[in-house]
Amino acid sequence: MNNKPLIIANWKCNPTTSKEAEHLFVAIKKEIRNIKDAEVVICPPFVYLDLIKDDFTKGGQNCYCENRGAYTGEISPLMLKNLACQYVIIGHSERRKYFQETDEIINRKVKTALKTRLRPVLCVGERVGDEMGLVVREQIEKDLAGIAAARVREVIVAYEPVWAIGTGLPCSSDEAMRAALFIRKTLTKLYDRPIAEKVKILYGGSVTSQNAVDYIKGAMMNGLLVGQASLNATEFVKIVLKINEL
Ligand code: PGA
Repeated sequence: MNNKPLIIANWKCNPTTSKEAEHLFVAIKKEIRNIKDAEVVICPPFVYLDLIKDDFTKGGQNCYCENRGAYTGEISPLMLKNLACQYVIIGHSERRKYFQETDEIINRKVKTALKTRLRPVLCVGERVGDEMGLVVREQIEKDLAGIAAARVREVIVAYEPVWAIGTGLPCSSDEAMRAALFIRKTLTKLYDRPIAEKVKILYGGSVTSQNAVDYIKGAMMNGLLVGQASLNATEFVKIVLKINEL
């Protein structure tokens, strides 16, 4: 496992044609071909995963909690693995909100992803008005329940305060740092300190080329989960290049 900052692009339910998706891949690839000090992962909608060949490390935006069977409409971790994905986003707040994903389901997904040798990017974060500590602790405890110490370092925790996602109201780097420390403290209690220190923690929520560096330098995050800004090749490339130069 390397210590390079990890920048994950979450394209969500965009774009609507494979032609546009291909354009976006090509435009990003052209500019970041030679980066050495950051790792970039692209998570497009499932239907575009196969358009990315060896160009990028790729990941899914979701997965089911079983690898095969009669589950109409679902995509399994094993299918993602067989499409050469290395990562899968699990428990994004949009899945929790619009698809009623519970911590129990998220926990099953994390377990199946790990069993399938995919690295889960577990999203946690409070809604507006919630207390960060209470919500994040409960999510981490429930979502990682039963996961052995030997495997938890493969999990990446993405702190995404719901009020900062897609709102243009990013979290301050002080708040992000407080959350990162809190997440590490929670992991230390559940496992131990050396293990907690190995878990990568990312920040997500209205990341732009203007604030990206603050989260890595100021808040000591290990990387970023980028939504809206990853759909604009120029802006996403700017983020990657700035982090690569740190
Ligand atoms: P945003 O989304 O960058 O558009 O706020 C981040 C995310 O939901 O992962």
